[in-house]
Amino acid sequence: MFSKALLSIVALAASFTAAVPSANKRATCSGGQTTANDACCVWFDVLDDIQSNLFHGGECGENAHESLRLIFHDAIAFSPALTAAGQFGGGGADGSIMAHTDVEIQYAANNGLDEIIEEQRPFALKHNVSFGDFIQFAGAVGVANCNGGPQIGFFAGRSNDSQPAPDKLVPLPSDSVTDILARVADAGFAPVELVWMLISHTVAAQDKVDDSIPGTPFDSTPSDFDAQFFVESMLNGTLTPGSALHDGEVQSPLPGEFRLQSDFLIGRDSRTSCEWQKMIADRANMLQKFEQTVLKLLGFSQSALTDCSDVIPIATGTVADPFLPAGKTMADIEAACAATPFPTLSAASGPETTIPAVPLDS
Ligand code: HEM
Ligand SMILES: *[C@@H]1O[C@H](CO)[C@@H](O)[C@H](O)[C@H]1NC(C)=O
Ligand SMILES: *[C@@H]1O[C@H](CO)[C@@H](O)[C@H](O)[C@H]1NC(C)=O
Ligand SMILES: *[C@@H]1O[C@H](CO)[C@@H](O)[C@H](O)[C@H]1NC(C)=O
Repeated sequence: MFSKALLSIVALAASFTAAVPSANKRATCSGGQTTANDACCVWFDVLDDIQSNLFHGGECGENAHESLRLIFHDAIAFSPALTAAGQFGGGGADGSIMAHTDVEIQYAANNGLDEIIEEQRPFALKHNVSFGDFIQFAGAVGVANCNGGPQIGFFAGRSNDSQPAPDKLVPLPSDSVTDILARVADAGFAPVELVWMLISHTVAAQDKVDDSIPGTPFDSTPSDFDAQFFVESMLNGTLTPGSALHDGEVQSPLPGEFRLQSDFLIGRDSRTSCEWQKMIADRANMLQKFEQTVLKLLGFSQSALTDCSDVIPIATGTVADPFLPAGKTMADIEAACAATPFPTLSAASGPETTIPAVPLDS
C-alpha cells in the first residue's frame, strides 16, 4: 500500500513535469503531432482508430461510459489483504480483465463488461500495445469525449503479463457501505476517495442490474461531466424505472432514471455524505479530485512508465451549473450532511420529463 501511494505521488509529479518536457525526448510523430516522448507516438494512431471506430466519431456514448467503467474493474482488483493472507491479491491495473476474460467475466460485479472488452481487444492487438495500457487509454479518451470532461493522465509501458484477478474485489451495488469502504480501504482509498471515484457515475447508465431496461442512466445528463449525479441521487426516490426493483437497485426520482442502492447509501452515509454534497458546489474541485483519484487508481504496479498524457484530447463542450430537474423543488432533496446545508439550486422550467435511455452502441 505504501509503495502504491508513493508511486501515485511519483505519477502525479510526472504529470506536472509533463507541461515542460525535456527537449531531447520531444518528438514529432509521423502524423505531425508532437509529444513529450517518441515512445508515445503509437498512441496517436490508437487515438485516431478508437475515436473513429470505437467511439463513433468521438462520442460520450455507451462505449465511452463502459470504457471508463472497465478502468475501475481492472484496477480495483488489487488486495494487499489477500496478499498478506498468502493468496494472490490481483495485479491492479494490469489488463488481466482482458487477458483472462474467461475467468473474470464470471464474477458477478463484471456482468456486462464482456461487450466492451471484446470490442476493445482487437484495437490493442492491432496496435501491439499491452492490455493494461489500452484499457487505461481508452477510459481516459472516452471520458474526455464527454462535455466538460476531465483530463486524466496517461502513462504507457505496463507489462502485458497478468494473472486472473480473484473474485470479490469489485464492489457490487447491493453491498453495504461498510463493506464497500472496507474493500476500497484495502486497495488504499479513503472514504472521500470513494466519493471522488464515483464522480464517474455522472456519465453512466445501467444495462444489467435490470436487463429489461438497458441504457437507463444514473442522472439526466449522461453525456455531460457535470454534478447532476450528486444532485439527483439526493432526490426522494418514488419511482421504479422497470417493472420491479432488482438486487442492488432502489427507487429513483425521475422517469427513465436508475438509482443504484450503493449510490443511494453512500450519498446518505455519515462517512461520505458531506463529501458527496460538496461535489455539487465546486466544479473545478470535482474535476481535480476525479483526475487525481483515477490517476491514483492507475498508479500502482510499475515504476518505469512513460508519461503520454499529452496524447489525451482536451474535452470540449460546456455543462450547466447544477440544477433541480423540472418539476422538483428543494423539498424533494433528502439532505444528509449534518455539518453543511445543501446548496440552494433553482429548478429547470417546464413539466417533468422522461429521461431518454443512452442509445446502445453496436
Ligand atoms: C462502490 C463502487 C461502485 C459500484 C458498486 C458500481 C456499480 C456499478 C453498476 C452496477 C453499474 C451498472 C452496470 C450495468 O448494469 O451495465 C455501473 C456503471 C458504471 N460505473 Fe460503476 N460502480 C462503482 C464504482 C465505479 C467507479 C469507481 C467507476 C470509475 C472510475 C465507475 C464507472 C462506471 C461507469 C462509467 C458506468 C456506466 C457504464 C455504462 O453506462 O455502460 N463505477 N457501476
Ligand atoms: C498481450 O497478451 C495477449 C495474451 O493474453 C497476447 O495475445 C497479445 O499479443 C499480447 N500483446 C502484446 C503487446 O504483447
Ligand atoms: C509487439 O510488442 C511486443 C512486446 O512489446 C514485442 O516483443 C514485439 O516485437 C512487437 N511486435 C511487433 C510486430 O511490433
Ligand atoms: C418522499 O416521497 C414520499 C412519497 O411521495 C413521501 O411520502 C415522503 O414524505 C417523501 N419524503 C421526503 C423526504 O420528501
